[in-house]
Formats: sequence, C-alpha cells, structure tokens
Amino acid sequence: MSEIVDVAVIGGGPGGYVAAIRCAQLGLNTVCIDAWKNSKGRASLGGTCLNIGCIPSKALLESSEQFFQIKHKASAHGIQVDGATVDVPAMISRKDKIVTTFTAGITSLFKKNKVKSIHGTGKLLKRSKTDEAWRIEVKGNDDTQTVQAKHVIVATGSLPRQLPMVEIDNEMILDNAGALALSETPERLGVIGAGVIGLEMGSVWRRLGSEVTILEAMPEFLMAADEQIAKEAKKIFSKELGLAIHMGIKIKSIKANKKGVTVNYQDADGNTQKLEVDKLIVAVGRTPNTSGLGADENDLSLDERGFIEVDEYCRTNLTDVFAVGDVVRGPMLAHKASEEGIAVAEAIAASEKGHSQETEAIDFNTIPWVIYTAPEIAWVGKNEQELKKAGIDYKVGQFPFIANGRARAMNAPAGFVKVLADAENDRVLGVHMIGPHVSELISEAVMAMEFFASSEDIARIVHAHPSLSEVIHEAALGANNRALHI
Ligand code: FAD
Ligand code: NAI
Repeated sequence: MSEIVDVAVIGGGPGGYVAAIRCAQLGLNTVCIDAWKNSKGRASLGGTCLNIGCIPSKALLESSEQFFQIKHKASAHGIQVDGATVDVPAMISRKDKIVTTFTAGITSLFKKNKVKSIHGTGKLLKRSKTDEAWRIEVKGNDDTQTVQAKHVIVATGSLPRQLPMVEIDNEMILDNAGALALSETPERLGVIGAGVIGLEMGSVWRRLGSEVTILEAMPEFLMAADEQIAKEAKKIFSKELGLAIHMGIKIKSIKANKKGVTVNYQDADGNTQKLEVDKLIVAVGRTPNTSGLGADENDLSLDERGFIEVDEYCRTNLTDVFAVGDVVRGPMLAHKASEEGIAVAEAIAASEKGHSQETEAIDFNTIPWVIYTAPEIAWVGKNEQELKKAGIDYKVGQFPFIANGRARAMNAPAGFVKVLADAENDRVLGVHMIGPHVSELISEAVMAMEFFASSEDIARIVHAHPSLSEVIHEAALGANNRALHI
C-alpha cells in the first residue's frame, strides 16, 4: 500500500477490532491486520475471545449446564427424565457454528464501517527520522506487503502460559483451545490451575460426567475474589458439583503417552502424590504476545513480565504507537480490551483535530469480573480484604438468594450478594456476588459505582418483584440496617 492510512491496528481481537471500528466511525482511514487462522486454516477475526475464549467457552458452559439441570435437577420441578445422554460432537459443532457466525460478523462489521481488513502477521519496521509514517510489514499466506500508517494500535493479545516440564499437544495435554474441542467426555480429567479457565472448563467436563481433579499451587482458593465469596464457591464446587480441588500443591513431573497422563506432585502437607488421568488441561495463566511484532528493533518498552509498557492513556514509549488489551497491564478481559480500544480511537481522532490526546483513562476499579460457573461469581470494586488492607472503614450489607422468591422459583437458592459501602459517606466501594445470573446483575453495581452512588441510592431504587435484582436491593438496604426480608 503506497497510501498512508490514519490508523493501522495490529490484532483483530476485542481490543483491536473494536478500536478499528471506532476509528472508522470517527472518520479515520483504518486498516486492521490480523494473523488468526482457525482449525481449517482460514482467517478468522475476533482473536482469542471469539475463536477459543469467551464465546466458545460460554457456549459449552451453557450446553453442559442444561444437561446437568435435566439430569440432576429436573426432578425438583416434578419433571422425570430418564436416560438423558450427551452427543459431544453435536455440542462441539453447535459451539463451532456460534464461533463462525460471530467471527464472520466482524468481517461484515468491517465492511459496513469501511475498515480495510488484511490477513497476516504485522511487524513494525524500524522507523528512521525521515520516515513520514510508521511502516508495518504484513506477511500473509502467499505475499508480503507494507502498510504505512500515521498511528498504530497494537492489540496482539496473549497466549497460554506454558509449564516448563511439559508441552501442550492438544491431544493428551490441553490448553484452552484443546479443552474446547474434545470429541468425547474423558472419564478422568486433570486440570492444573484453579483459576478462571480451570474452573470454567473443569465445570463443563464435570457436568458432562468426567471425574475432575484440579491441582492449584496457591494455598488459598480464588485469591482475586472476596474471601467469603471464594469460600462459598469452593464449598459449592466441591460438594454439589463434585470437583476435587487440591490447593497448595507443587507439580513435580508430568508424563503423557497415548493412554493417559500421569502427574506427580507434592500435596500441601509435603506428601508425594500421583494423579492419573485420561486428559490434562493446563490453565496456569496467560502471557502477553509480542512475538514477531518488531518490539526489539524499535526499542518498544516492555516490562519485566513482557507486557508492552503504556501510560494510563495506552500510549507506548514510541510516538503515535498505542497498545491495548491483554498485551498491556491490567485485567486480561475482553471488555477491558475493547474499552481501551475505544479510548485510544477517540484520543487519535481528537489529536487529528488538534485537540489533546488525553481523553478519559479507563478506571480499572469499575471493570466487572465474572466467572461463568454455576453458581456464577461476579464482582466490581474493592473486596473486604482490600478495604481492610487499605485501612478504609466500611459497612457491609448482605442478602442470600435463598430468601428471594425468584431464585427459589428457579430452584437456584445458592449464594448471596454483598454490598460494601464507605462507613462515613455511604459511597459504594464494592459489590460481590455468587448466585444465579449474577453476570447480568453485576451491571447494576457497575452503574452505581460509575455514578458514585451510595448504598442508600441503590436501596431507594424500585426493583421489580419478583426478580433476582431484589437481592442487590436487600443487600443495599442491609448496609443501612434496614433489610426487610431477613
Ligand atoms: P486477543 O483476543 O488475544 O487478540 C489478539 C489478536 O492479535 C489475535 O487474533 C492474534 O492472532 C493477533 N495477532 C497477534 N500478533 C499479531 C501480529 N504480529 N500481527 C497480526 N495479528 C497478530 N474475557 C472476558 O472478558 N470474558 C470471558 O468470558 C472470557 N473468557 C475466556 C475464556 C478463555 C478460555 C480464554 C482463553 C480467555 C477468556 N477471556 C475472557 C479473556 C479474553 O479472551 C481476552 O481478554 C481478550 O481476548 C483479549 O483481547 P485482545 O484483543 O487484547 O487479544
Ligand atoms: P488465572 O490467572 O485465572 O489462573 C491460573 C491459576 O493457575 C492460578 O490460580 C495460579 O495460582 C495457578 N497456577 C499457576 N502456576 C501453577 C502451577 N505450576 N501449578 C499449579 N497451579 C498453578 O489464569 P487462567 O485460568 O489461565 O486464565 C487466564 C486469564 O484469562 C484469566 O486471568 C482471565 O483474565 C481470562 N479469562 C477470563 C474469563 C472470564 O472473564 N470469565 C474466563 C477465562 C479466562
């Protein structure tokens, strides 16, 4: 391409594709370069999230939960179902169709918004003082081309972190891609890492009948969550779902052959243990992906963990080069990546009009977290242990789903909502939930915090009856010592 475009986005995941669309909406001539190939070798926009992350995992979580409900919970409603079985290939194929629909949807959105889409791996070429713009070499399937752009947004995402003693083959030892593509339910499934992926994928295969053992290095369960929520979650996942979760372990060796996988580890008491499984999922976190980007050649600053260093406006140390999403600091979440992409697009558009680039920085404190287990877990803001550590005086309002009519009607009484508010001025500091559909309920808490609401504000809002949202209402009332139904 001989023309100089306004913006080149490298990476077509939720950070990159959303940034590209927003740039185009703001009148910027925009190119999005993405390297993703699906299992059929075809270009597929949407990055990790759409191809092997958020969307396919939620498709399987939904299918497996429906099976679990039919098999184990339907009788509570007076419905008898005998002989319910699972067709795993059909379940996987449904998931694949959802992925294809959504990834193709991005291609349509690009066309609609006039974003030029280029398939290939983008590398920032070294910029000399005389260069008018950034040059990005794009290696496609059969050719190499150079894109020139005034501004670059790097959104190259992340990759699964590997354990040194074992290689992922996605046959016996699986990362998230392999865990989403099994053709049958393994009788015995091992999972290393009781984090978000471990719990979500462990739940899927447990609900479909696997005997699932999760080995976690940390002594405490779900350390990012509020302690009380984590405790409740561990109890429900162990006792009701039947996940065997072992904390504080140390992996010694992993050996795989065609018949199975053997994991030797030291348990929390220092005893040597052996786990034999048919398949093993390794879900021990993700690392930023800057390979092949030309970071070294351009002296692009990375931090000690390999993340591209950015300021609060996602500006890197290179002029007119921004970075967003999993490849930079902050939570590795799709909605965080997208919001950063939008903020950068707006900053570039503002600078093109001669205005300041410093628009609004993303507030990580109001980014919601959701874990799509059953019951779901969701939170926003600070948890109790963080408030204690910071020496902030707070009050607590808590209400259980078991006392809520809608949750009882749904036969989903497990869990609670906890509202934490400043003891002095009542401002909501954090909301923590475990229970049915809390992935949807958390938005009310996010909105409350974004609007600097007090717990009394939530308590004075009319909530529909009967609805799950009444649990938030009652928790907010509880923070003011005026809960009505408990
Ligand atoms: P990515 O989505 O990783 O996209 C990066 C893109 O850049 C890829 O297409 C890649 O091929 C491309 N690329 C890389 N290098 C180059 C290059 N040099 N040239 C061209 N292209 C390149 N988050 C949630 O918020 N909710 C969820 O429910 C959720 N579930 C998840 C489930 C799983 C199993 C996993 C693994 C992750 C999940 N996540 C979830 C996290 C979410 O997927 C990531 O936070 C999100 O995808 C990050 O977006 P991104 O745009 O930064 O990067
Ligand atoms: P994670 O960081 O959530 O969990 C990894 C777990 O592995 C941690 O508990 C860690 O202590 C443990 N671990 C690390 N090394 C270990 C070892 N050697 N032995 C045993 N345990 C070990 O990472 P995960 O689950 O891989 O997911 C990556 C990221 O993807 C998440 O942090 C999240 O940002 C994103 N994601 C988000 C989802 C959502 O929003 N619902 C769903 C899935 C992923």
